[in-house]
Amino acid sequence: MLGSGVRAPEGALYADKYRNQIFIIIRMNNFDIREEATDFGKCWYISDLKKSFRFALYTYDDDPDTVYLSNVFVDEKYRRTGLGNIILEMATDIAKKMEFKTIILKVLKTSFVHEWYERHGYRDFVADSEDISYVWMKKEL
Ligand SMILES: CC(C)(COP(=O)(O)OP(=O)(O)OC[C@H]1O[C@@H](n2cnc3c(N)ncnc32)[C@H](O)[C@@H]1OP(=O)(O)O)[C@@H](O)C(=O)NCCC(=O)NCCS
Repeated sequence: MLGSGVRAPEGALYADKYRNQIFIIIRMNNFDIREEATDFGKCWYISDLKKSFRFALYTYDDDPDTVYLSNVFVDEKYRRTGLGNIILEMATDIAKKMEFKTIILKVLKTSFVHEWYERHGYRDFVADSEDISYVWMKKEL
């Protein structure tokens, strides 16, 4: 945890410095990205313009090398056509461009999605403290 006055590692600085350029590229590719400040850091909501899929990336100000993936969702009409895989590739690509080092997500252990994330290189690292049917998974970038 970084206290006040402690210099943030380069990943976070890079993310701040180049965020606008990365957003422009995302928008040029016909995706929407919107940033919101949260109580603990920042959140980016990403979707395609037709809203057939969406996901979010969020960060904690005191953990600047890590980005969290959440709200992974494909409209029912478009499922099983590969959009889910596109979400995971986009999330990894954006996180790498922003120079985050680790990507983390939470998943229901019994869902097919758990194995899907494993196929994409995520590994279990800790059970959820509030509900043990969920597990936190992470992938080094
Ligand atoms: C999870 C979700 C995003 C997948 O989206 P999708 O567009 O159907 O995914 P894809 O077509 O790219 O398929 C991704 C992989 O999951 C597998 N898959 C998709 N739906 C599946 C299902 N119902 N049961 C088993 N496997 C399934 C596909 O076979 C594919 O595997 P592969 O690429 O390794 O061969 C979508 O089902 C969804 O929005 N679900 C509701 C929200 C949710 O559960 N989000 C995850 C929260 S952690």
